[in-house]
Amino acid sequence: MSFDRSIKIAPSILSADFADFGREIQAIEAQGADWVHVDVMDGHFVPNLTFGPPAVAAFRPHVKTFMDVHLMIAPVDPYIEAYAEAGADMIVAHVEAGPHPHRTLQAIRATGRKAGIALNPGTPASAVEYLLDLADMVLVMSVNPGFGGQKFIASSVQKVAQIRQMIGDREIHIQVDGGVDPNTVGALAAAGADCFVAGSAVFRGGSVENPAPYGENIRAIRAAAEAAL
Ligand code: DX5
Ligand code: ZN
Repeated sequence: MSFDRSIKIAPSILSADFADFGREIQAIEAQGADWVHVDVMDGHFVPNLTFGPPAVAAFRPHVKTFMDVHLMIAPVDPYIEAYAEAGADMIVAHVEAGPHPHRTLQAIRATGRKAGIALNPGTPASAVEYLLDLADMVLVMSVNPGFGGQKFIASSVQKVAQIRQMIGDREIHIQVDGGVDPNTVGALAAAGADCFVAGSAVFRGGSVENPAPYGENIRAIRAAAEAAL
C-alpha cells in the first residue's frame, strides 16, 4: 500500500447487524467505504466484548479493501500474532494497554502488517513521541472506547493538530474514531487527520436490504472532510 493521505472513510462494523457481518461488509464496500474498521474489545481494557481472532478470520474473505483491526484489549502482545494470522491488514494497539508500547509496535511490524498506535481521550499526544518511527498510523480516540453512538470529545481536534505537527513529513496516517459525522469531521480534517472511523454515522438509516443510506452517509462525511481542506 503506497502512502496516500487522501481522505479515507472506515466504517466500524460495531454498528453493523451482528447477525449479518459478511453481507454488511460487502454492502459498505459497495457503497464507498475505503477501509473496514473492526473494533476488538475484551471486557477488561474497555467495558464491552466483541470479536476474537476466529470472528476476524470469518470477516476476512468478505473484505476487499483494507481491514483495520483496532485492538481495545490489555494485555495486547499475546494476541498480535493471532489477529495477524486472522487476516488483519493493519493492527492498532492502545498506548495505554501495557508498559511496553514500543515493543508492541515492533511485534506488530514483525508480522508484516501495518502498525498503528491509539490514544484514549485522556492520553496526551506526547505519549506517542518516541513511537512514531514504528507507526504507520496514529489513532486519536474521540470518545472513551467501548460503544458506538457516543458524544464526540472536542479536545480531539487539538490533539490531532499536535500529532500532525509531531509527525512532520513522515508517511504516517492520523485516524480519528468516535462520534465522527459530517458535523465533526471538518475540524478534524483541517487539523490534519486523513482517516475517519464512523459507526452510527454510516450505518444509520440503512440495512443490508437497503444499503443506499450507507453510501449517502459515507459521501456526506467525505464531502464535509474535503470541504475543510
Ligand atoms: C468505540 C469504537 C468506535 C465506535 C465508533 O469504542 O472504537 O470505533 O465504533 O462508533 P461511532 O462512530 O458511532 O461513535
Ligand atoms: Zn475503533
